[in-house]
Amino acid sequence: MPIGLATLYPSPVIGHRGACALAPENTLASFRQAARDGAAMVEFDAKLTADNRAIVFHDDDLERTTDGTGPVQDITFEALSGLDAGGWFSPAFQGAQVPSLEEVLDCAQDHDLAINLELKPCPNRVEETARVVLATAALQWSADDRPPLISSFSRAALAVARDLAPSWPRALLCDNLPDDWREQAAILRVQALHLGDVELSPATIAQVKNHGLAVAVWTVNDPERVRFLLAAGADAVFSDDPGAIRKALG
Ligand code: G3P
Ligand code: CA
Repeated sequence: MPIGLATLYPSPVIGHRGACALAPENTLASFRQAARDGAAMVEFDAKLTADNRAIVFHDDDLERTTDGTGPVQDITFEALSGLDAGGWFSPAFQGAQVPSLEEVLDCAQDHDLAINLELKPCPNRVEETARVVLATAALQWSADDRPPLISSFSRAALAVARDLAPSWPRALLCDNLPDDWREQAAILRVQALHLGDVELSPATIAQVKNHGLAVAVWTVNDPERVRFLLAAGADAVFSDDPGAIRKALG
């Protein structure tokens, strides 16, 4: 059964890693900020610790957004929880932690936020990451809840999602439209493409839409560009400051 656009994207503005222009990305503070700013949907990145806990974190390494060092896939959840994931952004967020996936799902449910869960596997842990992350999310989902939108740059991860959670919508993430997008969309049975805003043209958006797929564009922080993309037929955009974009759109 085709999934309606309103189910995929309850609003045309999706908070990227929460509201990561205003609070440290992928932390509970960032998701709460997005909710305060009226976002209806947030995107975040999910991967695994060394001891197989599903966490919400973007990079493969700890350096950029924590006071730790080394690969995320080598640290246990307990050790990760001792790191500061907020001080790099601003002293006001000192002490923020890298959240578990469960904490982020609780937060989204508490604030009535729809979610786009990006499977972001560390190297060599692609299928395992998809399996554990989806199983963790499934434990918190009931049939009455709006289904999470699962996305990934990894085709192997999306194939796991297709097989383990077939009723949850899926989106293939791409920097640019790849030559084999129609074939991959059919194989992975995705409902949407999430395209990078790299010289993205109205013709490309129309091509994908005419094929029956939804289009969301990342990451767009200029309100004029957002207006242009939505007028060109994009269904949604990812923004680091969803409140500001919502306000600009009126
Ligand atoms: O899901 C859209 C966007 O988040 C993909 O790129 O690197 O920000 O995860 P990235
Ligand atoms: Ca992401």
